[in-house]
Amino acid sequence: MGTGAGGPSHGSADAQRAADAVRERLGVRAPVAAIVLGSGLGALADRVRDAKRVPYGEIPGFHAPKVEGHRGEMISGTLGGREVLLLAGRFHMYEGHSARVAAFPVRVVHALGARTLFVSNAAGGIRRTFKPGDLMVIADHINLMFRSSLEGAAEQGEVRFPDMSAPYAPRLQALLDDAAKAQGLALQRGVYVGLLGPTYETLAEVRMLDRLGADAVGMSTVPEVIVARALGMEVAGVSLITNPAAGISHTALDHAEVVEVGARASEAFCGLVERFVSRL
Ligand code: HPA
Repeated sequence: MGTGAGGPSHGSADAQRAADAVRERLGVRAPVAAIVLGSGLGALADRVRDAKRVPYGEIPGFHAPKVEGHRGEMISGTLGGREVLLLAGRFHMYEGHSARVAAFPVRVVHALGARTLFVSNAAGGIRRTFKPGDLMVIADHINLMFRSSLEGAAEQGEVRFPDMSAPYAPRLQALLDDAAKAQGLALQRGVYVGLLGPTYETLAEVRMLDRLGADAVGMSTVPEVIVARALGMEVAGVSLITNPAAGISHTALDHAEVVEVGARASEAFCGLVERFVSRL
């Protein structure tokens, strides 16, 4: 399923081309993980040592992201003493991108050698005990974006019908627990539901999501995790709870609040990811 005559299909061949275009510039050798930074969590990029950066606009098949709180760079370097790749900024479906485009960076980091994917995002807390600033290990997800990043022809090296019974590797969840304990950080754990957005949810929608078994709601991540599983990557994910979801508290939601809570929780998040990566 391409984007039009002659346009990129954002499949494995395009991913290989993108990887070949940036590998040398980024000095990529053997990354232990690729890390997707969610809204307001970009500070991790400043912790990377010997960082080399390529703006998204210079990567074939990528777009320049437009959302405040997202930078739009692929970064290579070391974190916690291990080689990592950072995706600072993502392509959201609410920007009009297909699920394939939203997941394309995952195909590229896989082509660059990453076999572990760490995803992060900002999310609204549905579970009533969640507070802004909490970090939630993603135990599972619900895809309510109603599209799949695997739509279209089967890609070489990808499973056509990936098993999704444990998309977030229990082994990596245990490493996150370990890392949090070392840091004296209490982690939440729950189910992330991905919606298309860009509206925040209505009160009725949040009641519905609660009944469906979701603990946190956001507008990303699911397309990336689906492609990662099709590629056989191990996945770990953390949601930063930036706000109570609509109706859980009685204040209106705005993006500035999401970015601000991100800035405050950023220290804990950065420490957690650094310790996690050093345990891989
Ligand atoms: N809903 C959806 N996405 C979000 C939210 C929310 O409440 N907060 C941060 N991202």
